[in-house]
Amino acid sequence: MKIAHLSDPHFGTEVPAVVTALQAALSDIRPDMIVVSGDITQRARAAQFAAAAAFIDSLPPVPKLLVPGNHDLPLFNLPLRLLLPDHGYRSAFGTTEQERIAGRVSVIGFDATLRLRHTRGSLRPDHVRLRMAASADPSRWRIAVVHQPLHTLLDEDRDECLIGTAAIADALAACGADVVLSGHVHMPLLADTRAIFAGLPRHFVLSGAGTAVSWRTRPGAPNSFNLLQLDDATRRMTLTLHAFDAATQVFRPDYARAFALQADGWLTEPAAPRPSGLSSGPNTRQRTARHPSAG
Ligand SMILES: [Fe+2]
Ligand SMILES: [Fe+2]
Repeated sequence: MKIAHLSDPHFGTEVPAVVTALQAALSDIRPDMIVVSGDITQRARAAQFAAAAAFIDSLPPVPKLLVPGNHDLPLFNLPLRLLLPDHGYRSAFGTTEQERIAGRVSVIGFDATLRLRHTRGSLRPDHVRLRMAASADPSRWRIAVVHQPLHTLLDEDRDECLIGTAAIADALAACGADVVLSGHVHMPLLADTRAIFAGLPRHFVLSGAGTAVSWRTRPGAPNSFNLLQLDDATRRMTLTLHAFDAATQVFRPDYARAFALQADGWLTEPAAPRPSGLSSGPNTRQRTARHPSAG
């Protein structure tokens, strides 16, 4: 089972050559499902939602799940933001919290946007428990999707995380979440929760995706998406970051992390020798400059 995790395309700021490269990459990979974890548009305008919907329709015909991000609420039209904040999103994509099942995988989308906050997001732990319990079949992988992350690669981005991350992580762990897919900071993160939320009863994997096609990248983090590969027989999973290579104008596998299921949840496996062409992972020394337009 392969799931392509895209995030933060910010239609309205998309780069046409990157859009074309992403369409080609997904056509080659042929994922079983495609997830987009929010900030679908730059300013929640009708034309931006229309362009985003056309892009989604152009991708391989597999189940797709989207969630809204903070940029999918109107920012400057205050009456609309307060009264009908998700009008544009719903018109293009339907309800803001959906679930998709493909094979033995259940993907549950959460809407963490707040009409009174510009960038921060929140989820009530009891709401997380309720929705996760509705897909509690233990034979299925359970994947949660929420725009704002539970953790970030860079310390300077921690204020961009969900409000109350520890309680939300607890709820997700208690409900048997295997992976949580997020975006928002335009800086990828491929990790398990062991060093982040040490006390969880069951550890899960965090897939943070960069911006898929927007020019709003940050230093050291080109356009990218994550590919999840879930192996039912061995209960292992691999996350591979595919990054846009400006020189060749294509998305290429950049680095990968493998995880194995233990009695107390998911554990990152020691790095295996890298196939040629794959790097060892993020170079955080390059990633110290805060980009004012991320989020
Ligand atoms: Fe965002
Ligand atoms: Fe964003």
